[in-house]
Amino acid sequence: MKATVSRHAHFNSAHRLNVSKWTDIENKEYFGPCNNVNFHGHNYELIVSLTGDIDPVTGYVYDMKELSDLIKNDVESRLDHKNLNLDVPEFKDLNPSAENISKVIYDWLRPSFSSKFTIKIKLYETPRNFVEYFG
Ligand code: NI
Repeated sequence: MKATVSRHAHFNSAHRLNVSKWTDIENKEYFGPCNNVNFHGHNYELIVSLTGDIDPVTGYVYDMKELSDLIKNDVESRLDHKNLNLDVPEFKDLNPSAENISKVIYDWLRPSFSSKFTIKIKLYETPRNFVEYFG
């Protein structure tokens, strides 16, 4: 019997989306305000979901306090109040789009969970725009 449990977290980060081999005009046209040379911030909302078997003894799929601590230690501490382009090595050569941020978060968290769990990362960059990444 499987169920999905989710933990909601958030972080504030600055970024700039830019493709270095494109011209300034091409970048500005494609990325709009997210191409701003001096960066800009987003209030990211993150939902990490774990799907797994309900433990017949505890009734839990996963301990939510542990999940919350993992997100704090592995994700928030690396992204909150950071400039993603400059402060986070993973984005040195990777555009910090919501898609790529989701992938990086997944890759950070995945090793902490047994392979019997399915993990989904849902990341809101704005209240209306979000990405889902399943690995
Ligand atoms: Ni942006």
